[in-house]
Amino acid sequence: MSQLMIEKTEVFVKEKLKDESSGHDWYHIYRVKKLAENIAEQEGADHFICVMAALLHDIADEKIAGTEEKGLQEVRLWLESIAVENQYLEQIISIISTMSFKGGNQSAMQTLEGQVVQDADRLDAIGAIGIGRTFAYSGAKGQLMYDPEIPVREKMTKDQYRNEKSTAVNHFYEKLLKLKNTMNTTYAKKLANERHAFLESFLEQFFGEWEGKK
Ligand code: ADP
Ligand code: NI
Repeated sequence: MSQLMIEKTEVFVKEKLKDESSGHDWYHIYRVKKLAENIAEQEGADHFICVMAALLHDIADEKIAGTEEKGLQEVRLWLESIAVENQYLEQIISIISTMSFKGGNQSAMQTLEGQVVQDADRLDAIGAIGIGRTFAYSGAKGQLMYDPEIPVREKMTKDQYRNEKSTAVNHFYEKLLKLKNTMNTTYAKKLANERHAFLESFLEQFFGEWEGKK
């Protein structure tokens, strides 16, 4: 399948996400695509499927499409309109539907290509970029960056997420620090270990500065 299809898809996704402010802006897609390419190369996964699924992975997100079904239908129509071969189309759709499924435990990725794209998406939530995204999201939601009076919770229910106060630093414990152990591929595990160490050293410095000790 062709480079031209990838380029057309980039234009399509960039246009769709240009006003997106829920943490799924075009440059999140840009980074996930780059990561997916690098991981795919190391792991011997199919380049076309990984890149296309990375580019389209957030189009079916409820926050963007309204419902997952509507989003998946839109992705299908897009792939048909640029004449992606059926066998590739089905694999790309299958990856995106597994990734955007939010209910309960996410089902395990069946294919290497799916594992690569899921790893790439999760890697973009940790490291320096992950820290930046978390503080940006918290600011947009009107949360404090940190509040010593809000207990740190490692596990939150959906209701707690909706109803209780949280902070940017809380989100590290709720989610970011757990992502390292969810990586599928060997190369992503290596990158995740480095990004995780960066999160930990950031927190150590942060709490030191908080008490005027660093
Ligand atoms: P995705 O759909 O990419 O799995 P989310 O939509 O949950 O991720 O979040 C996108 C980004 O927004 C994350 O990388 C994270 O940094 C930030 N984010 C999500 N939820 C919170 C939260 N409760 N507090 C702070 N940041 C958050
Ligand atoms: Ni994403």
